[in-house]
Amino acid sequence: MIPVIPHPTRTVVGAVGALALGPDSSVRAEEPVLAGIAQRFIDDVVDDTGLHLILGGGPSTSSIVLSLVASLSVEFPPPLGLSPDGGDPVNESYRLTVTATGVTVEALVPTGIVRGLATLRQLISASLTEDATALLDEVLIDDSPRFAWRGLSLDVVRTFFSTEQIRRVLDAMALFKMNVLHLHLSDDQGWRIEIPRWPELTEAGADGAMGDRPGGYYTRHEFAELVTYAADRSIVILPEIDMPGHSGAVLRAYPELTSSMGPNLLDPNHPGVLEFASDVIAALAQIAPGPFVHLGGDEAFGMQPEAYATFVDAARTLAVAAGLRPIFWQEASRSSLGSSDIIQHWMALDPEIEALLLSGDLGDLAEGVPEDLGIPTAMLTTIAEMFRIAQTDVARAIERGAKVILSPASHLYLDRPYAEEPLDPTQHDLHRRLGLKVYPRRTIAESFDWDPVEALGEHPEAIAGVEAALWCETIATIDELEFMLLPRLAGVAERAWASGPGASWAEYRLRLGPQAPLWHHRGWQFFTSSLVDWATSPTTEDIATP
Ligand code: ACM
Repeated sequence: MIPVIPHPTRTVVGAVGALALGPDSSVRAEEPVLAGIAQRFIDDVVDDTGLHLILGGGPSTSSIVLSLVASLSVEFPPPLGLSPDGGDPVNESYRLTVTATGVTVEALVPTGIVRGLATLRQLISASLTEDATALLDEVLIDDSPRFAWRGLSLDVVRTFFSTEQIRRVLDAMALFKMNVLHLHLSDDQGWRIEIPRWPELTEAGADGAMGDRPGGYYTRHEFAELVTYAADRSIVILPEIDMPGHSGAVLRAYPELTSSMGPNLLDPNHPGVLEFASDVIAALAQIAPGPFVHLGGDEAFGMQPEAYATFVDAARTLAVAAGLRPIFWQEASRSSLGSSDIIQHWMALDPEIEALLLSGDLGDLAEGVPEDLGIPTAMLTTIAEMFRIAQTDVARAIERGAKVILSPASHLYLDRPYAEEPLDPTQHDLHRRLGLKVYPRRTIAESFDWDPVEALGEHPEAIAGVEAALWCETIATIDELEFMLLPRLAGVAERAWASGPGASWAEYRLRLGPQAPLWHHRGWQFFTSSLVDWATSPTTEDIATP
């Protein structure tokens, strides 16, 4: 067992404790283009473990050597799905070799080196000794991702997170080789990004959040800094503006866009609405690092199907005219979807709830939904109807040649309450409070019991990627966010990256436990599931967390 998540594709293990890395060990980048990556790795290892490696060293004295190569000994097939930067998938493959004389990380492009170093960081943390040196086993690792798109969608509206806090999330994603951070930047409760021609969005619109939480927004400059921070870790930021539903903050800022449709809907036939959409999309084109933008499209409750399709079709046309490839939540398959479209599938619930919602007898439904789920009975009809209509979304999209990002709420919504108890008694309150009660509690083992290809049945070729989502109705602070993110995010990354036969929970949990010292050392809050033997670090006690 090598204590790495996601599990590398091929590993050959040799002598135990063959190589010691200490404070005088050096890291050398063979190509100047890798210098920044080498320095970030050194900084990361300090934050992960307290071990200070040094940059530089001669060809024969460096302990860790990073180099780009023209070819790797093991050639992997290209990953499934779409590349988040819009081109052919970047080759993220790497070879990591640990021998008694040193470590080499080889890849075809810098992103491969970044992925290889994420593996090395976990190996270093797991082999740390009492005196803060690492005693690595000999190993040969050849690795490559299963899916090209490995994302996390984060709600920064219900709770606004500062750029510093978002960087913590990016750090966790990078450790597990995830490569898309999808930021949900607008919703009923607030608007989170500067749009030049519509200043009230970030004046009035950014004020609120869920309940009495503080609002906020990212300036374009701050957003660009986040894009750079993410890109340095080979992560792409995907901005989402949610339209035509979930538009309450827009209508608060610009009441003149309000139509008779409702307080959070944008009517495409109302004066000014498409001009607004056009300006927003043009602004997204300027800030998005790649060709993809997310334009929402979910839960437009109360909107007539024709008006909904008109809006989505108009938004798609505007996006394409701006040189963008729009992504919509799955409801958008009820518009003029074509083969260049991408939808995000989210409406997959627990089998027993699906059965109830589809049963057709709302009387039974009201009785069958456990009381503590907190679904208001008055909403049941709407939810059941929404769910029934949604049953054909994905099949219709696939039939038209569109691609599907997999975010089934049943397994990839991380705002689901944990079932098992925490080992750390101070976490009982978080454990009880956090997560949406509409989802039955599930253990992290149950959440892990999922496979993307099985999820899409007969059409694995239609999978664009795999993306977890974290909505923040119940999450008010960065600690609470991290508590819901870890450890489940690691399990999502395992499914999205690891090729070969899917890991069993019994095997995976043995790799999960050794992650804890690194998380501790970084000061990351995580749910101390009682299903895992969490390792303790010899140095954790000595080093203050940030
Ligand atoms: C969603 O959860 N409304 C996409």
